[in-house]
Amino acid sequence: MRQIKCLITAGATREYFDPVRFISNPSTGKMGIAIAKACKDSGWETTLVIGAASVPTPDGIETISAISAEDMLRETSARFSDCDILIMTAAVSDMRPKVKSAQKVKKEKLNMLVEFEQTPDILKTLSKSKNRQILIGFAAETNDVETYAKKKLKEKNLDAIAANNVSKKDAGFASDFNEISLFFKDGKTAELGRGTKDELAQKLVKILSEKFFS
Ligand code: CTP
Repeated sequence: MRQIKCLITAGATREYFDPVRFISNPSTGKMGIAIAKACKDSGWETTLVIGAASVPTPDGIETISAISAEDMLRETSARFSDCDILIMTAAVSDMRPKVKSAQKVKKEKLNMLVEFEQTPDILKTLSKSKNRQILIGFAAETNDVETYAKKKLKEKNLDAIAANNVSKKDAGFASDFNEISLFFKDGKTAELGRGTKDELAQKLVKILSEKFFS
């Protein structure tokens, strides 16, 4: 069988106000990196597009850096037509400053600068040009996890969405652990339960492999 090509995004994007200030989120990149490793271990040709991460990127996996949501959109778009599956674990900043100053802004003037606009939705954008590609999203929720995850599954035209409750103690952002429920477009659900991010990544890739590529 032909080798499966997968594209993984991980980490947090940063949206800069000026050369020294940005808005972002606490994603460390651990979950996405664990998934990239599991994909590679399954024999998939793996490319990782990564924002800010606080753990080392893995050896032996093609890794592309993307700082902002715009960078991540560009780098994933450039590789999308050639991939079989995109797993979007990146915590993309939803907002960015409307204006980015080339020079450091003096603090007295900062409040005048803080006007936001939405960043592009990468999954929504890519799903419009989807043909054979399988699209997997990751929903980070603090409440009504299933409802919001299913809403994103539909609105972003995904094949499945992995939902995790980021408000749980020792799960989600920055933790070595996570707890994942996987909701498919066809209405089926897979409970991956709680485990280390490495364990869950292996379970996830096995499930995706059986569901979409066997
Ligand atoms: N995502 C994306 N582009 C964005 C924001 C999010 O592609 N600008 C992707 C994420 O990588 C993830 C999925 O959409 O796979 C869900 O992200 P999440 O942050 O949970 O949801 P949002 O769409 O940002 O909505 P909200 O913040 O309102 O929950």
